[in-house]
Amino acid sequence: MSVAAAVVIPPEQIVLLREAQHVVALTGAGISKESGLPTFREAQTGLWSQYRPEELATPEAFARQPDLVWQWYTWRRALVRQAAPNPAHYALVELAGRVPSFSLITQNVDSLHRRAGSRDVIELHGDILRSRCSSCHAIATDIDEASPSPPPCPQCGAPVRPDVVWFGETLPDDALQAAFNAARSADLLLVIGTSLQVQPAAGIVPLALQAGASVIDINPEPAIIPDERVHTLAGPAAKMLPALVSAAFGPA
Ligand code: OAD
Repeated sequence: MSVAAAVVIPPEQIVLLREAQHVVALTGAGISKESGLPTFREAQTGLWSQYRPEELATPEAFARQPDLVWQWYTWRRALVRQAAPNPAHYALVELAGRVPSFSLITQNVDSLHRRAGSRDVIELHGDILRSRCSSCHAIATDIDEASPSPPPCPQCGAPVRPDVVWFGETLPDDALQAAFNAARSADLLLVIGTSLQVQPAAGIVPLALQAGASVIDINPEPAIIPDERVHTLAGPAAKMLPALVSAAFGPA
């Protein structure tokens, strides 16, 4: 018996997925946990239980302690480079080929969706493996990432920073608009591995509900959203998501 076959998917969730015309997936750090990457807010293991975000993930922190911030991201870049997509990432690639219309919105900066083969991924919080100038914003390639200090921008000489969204910064407007448009036209929103604690990404759920979508929240500890159209699939994404997709459409 396969692992996927051992998971029981509620029949109403199978019907929702099978009949949906536009499926939107909103993912968070939990989908990459089985790839070996830490989440942010889980007690004990989450990054924000071990580090203070205001010391590492704000523009002020970078201005104050550029070397410390750069080196913390050098460590995180190494973790991301060592990681590989897991069955949940691949299940979303499979799902995209099975439904009439599909959009994938992620808060993750690990590029694992793209590495699994998902296309047109809406990346709300940037890409940790990309760096850009903190002043002229040019994408910086050909820099010494391993340097203990932020390398100088090849174009203007200002310090280079990771191309991620820090606390207090606005999200890339094109990604945000694409995400909101997808949510407004969804009839099923899959919420996968996110605590929904961070705006504006968390606002995608009420937006989709207002537009008439149903929601399936896939998480060992699903969020409590008081709406009869919100269903929960409690468990790790790498197990539950492939099981949901194969229950609706047959094995990959
Ligand atoms: P969180 O750490 O806030 O939430 C991770 C969620 O994943 C929790 O709800 C866990 O219960 C769940 N989880 C744990 N293991 C899982 C598994 N195996 N399968 C599925 N779910 C699992 O992470 P996010 O919601 O992604 O911002 O955090 C949102 C943003 O806050 C991040 O993008 C980051 C952070 O500060 C930026 O980098 C700008």
